[in-house]
Amino acid sequence: MRKKLFFLFTLLMVTARCVMAAEVPAPQNIYARDVQSLNGTWNYFVDVQEQGYYDYRMNPVKWGYFMNAKPKRPSDLIEYDFDKSPSMQIPSDWNTADEKLFFYEGTVWFRRLFDFQKKEGKRTLLYFGAVNYEAIVFVNGQEMGKHVGGFTPFCYDVTDVLKEGENFVVVKVDNKRHADNVPTRIFDWWNYGGITRDVLLVNVEDTYMEDYTLHLTGKTTGSIDFAVQLSKKVAGEKVTLTIPGLKVKKTVTTDAEGKASLTIAKVKPQLWSPENPKLYAVQLQHGAETIKDEIGFRTIETRGKQLLLNGKPIFLRGVCTHEETAYTNRRANCAADADTLIAWAKSMNCNFLRLAHYPHNEHAIREAERKGMLLWAEIPVYWTISWNNPNTYNNAHRQLSDLISRDKNRAAVIIWSIANETPHSNARDNFLSHLATSAKEQDPTRLISMAMEVLSASNYVNRLQDNMNQYVDVISFNQYVGWYRDVNDAKKMKWEIPYDKPVIISEFGGGAKEGLHGAAEQRWTEEFQERLYRENLDMLDKIEGLAGTCPWVLKDFRSPRRPLPEIQDYFNRKGLFSDQGKRKRAFYVLKEWYEKKKK
Ligand code: GCU
Repeated sequence: MRKKLFFLFTLLMVTARCVMAAEVPAPQNIYARDVQSLNGTWNYFVDVQEQGYYDYRMNPVKWGYFMNAKPKRPSDLIEYDFDKSPSMQIPSDWNTADEKLFFYEGTVWFRRLFDFQKKEGKRTLLYFGAVNYEAIVFVNGQEMGKHVGGFTPFCYDVTDVLKEGENFVVVKVDNKRHADNVPTRIFDWWNYGGITRDVLLVNVEDTYMEDYTLHLTGKTTGSIDFAVQLSKKVAGEKVTLTIPGLKVKKTVTTDAEGKASLTIAKVKPQLWSPENPKLYAVQLQHGAETIKDEIGFRTIETRGKQLLLNGKPIFLRGVCTHEETAYTNRRANCAADADTLIAWAKSMNCNFLRLAHYPHNEHAIREAERKGMLLWAEIPVYWTISWNNPNTYNNAHRQLSDLISRDKNRAAVIIWSIANETPHSNARDNFLSHLATSAKEQDPTRLISMAMEVLSASNYVNRLQDNMNQYVDVISFNQYVGWYRDVNDAKKMKWEIPYDKPVIISEFGGGAKEGLHGAAEQRWTEEFQERLYRENLDMLDKIEGLAGTCPWVLKDFRSPRRPLPEIQDYFNRKGLFSDQGKRKRAFYVLKEWYEKKKK
C-alpha cells in the first residue's frame, strides 16, 4: 500500500511540475498597467549541481526546490529551506549583491512569497524585465516555462495557478556560458547573473490591449500611423486613441484578428529631437482598460552619406556605454541608474549613446527619450557566434524581435544593431543577412546597422570590406588604431569606405588608469589616452561621409578578461570616466571636439 501511495505521490509531483503553456507576449508599455511589484526581498541559494531541477524525479519533495516544501512530519527529510536561506534585493545581479558569488557562474534558486487578491473577470500576468541568462519559472510549484536570453522581457499568464492569499514564485536562474548561446562563451563584460530587472504581476482585462504602435507615417511629418492588437482575436471591439496635444480623438474597430489600424492625417506634431525632446501625452481606451503613454514623433533617414533627423543632416556625437552603474559598478536596472550615465554623456556634449552590446532596460530607454539622447540599440550577437546552429539563430531572432517590440514606440531609438565585431564567413553573412532583413520588416521606420571591423591597413590605407554592407542602412565599424595596432601611426592613416551610406565609427579608443600620469608614450597613463584621442579624432575627421563617432567607452567597466594587477584589476580601463566617476584627460579632448561638432 505504502509503495502505491508513494508512486501516486511521485506521479502527482511530476505532473505538478508539468509545464503550463503559459508564456504570452510581454504587453506593450508594461509600467502603465495595473501592476503589483514583486521587486524586493527574495530568498536564494546556490545549486551548483542543479539537483533541485534534474534530480527532483528521484525525490520531488526532498529535491524539487520549486515546491518550496516544508517537513509535515518530524521524520520528513527536506534538504532545503528558502525561509532560512539568505536574501537579496531584486532586481540585482548576484555577483555584486553577494561577494561569495562575484565570479559565480551556474544555478541559483530564488523564491518570493506574495499575497494576492483574485480579481473577478481579470487575468494576471507574471512579467520579468530580464533574467540572465536562463530562467525556469514556477508559481505555486507549477512550471510556467523556460526563457533563454539575458536582456529582454518575458511574461506568463498565471491566472489559473494563483491562489487567494499567500503564493510563491520560484525561479531557477542559470548564467553559465555556452558556445551556442547569444552571446557566445566569450564576451568582454561581466557575466552578471540573476533576476536583473523588475518583476511585476500585471492585472489585465480578460481581453486586453496587448500591443500598439504609434509613429509618423514614413518620412512625412503631417500624418501619424496607429495600430493596436488585442490579446484575443476578437472582431468588432472599439479602441479609442486620444492625443490632446494634437487634438486627436479617434476610435477604431478591430478585425477578426483582434487588430485595428489607422492613419491620422492633417496633424503637425512638434518633432522630437535631442534639443527639443517633445513628448505627447497619449491615451488608449478599450472597454474598462485605459493605457497612458508619452510618445515622441520624429523621422530618421539617410540620403547618400548623410544621416537626416527630421529632414536635417545630423552628426551623432556619441559614446558607447554598458548597462553598468556609476560608482557601484553593478548591473544597472532603473531610471536613476540611467540618469547618471546620461548626465555624464551630456557633460561631454553627446547627443547619442550606443547601448552596448545587448538590450538595456526599458527605464534607460525612456530616460534617454525624456532627456534628449538618441540611441543605438543592439542584440548580443557578439564575436564568435555559432553561425550554423538554427537554435542560436532563433535565439538571436527572438531577442531582436522582443527588443523591437518593447522599444518600437521610443523616439530616442534610431538604430537597431544586429551584431558586433563578427568574423567574416558565409555562415555569418547568411545568419546576419536574415536578421537584418527581419529587423527591417518588423520596423521599417528605423535604420539597421552593425559594428563591422577593420583589423589592419596596408600602406597605411584601411579599407572597409564587408558583405553585409548591402543589408545595413548605416555603415559602422570599430577600429583601434593607437591601441591594438599602429600605436604611433594614426597621423598617417587613410580610410576607404566604398559604400554610399553614412559612416559611424562605432568604437575607437584606448585605456588609461585614472590618476596615472607620465609620458604620452607610456601605456596606461592618462597622457597616452589623451594623445590617442587627439590623433584619432584628427584622423577620423578626414573620413568622407563621417556621420558620427562612438568612442569606446563612457566609463571603466568590469570584465573578467582584464586582470592586469594595479591597472585593470578586472576592469576594462578604456573609459573616459573612471569606475568612480573621475574624468580622465581624454574626456576634455572629446568634449572640446564635440563642442565644435555642434556648430
Ligand atoms: C571590442 C569590443 C568591445 C571591447 C573592446 C575592447 O571592440 O566590441 O566589447 O570591450 O573591443 O577591447 O575594449
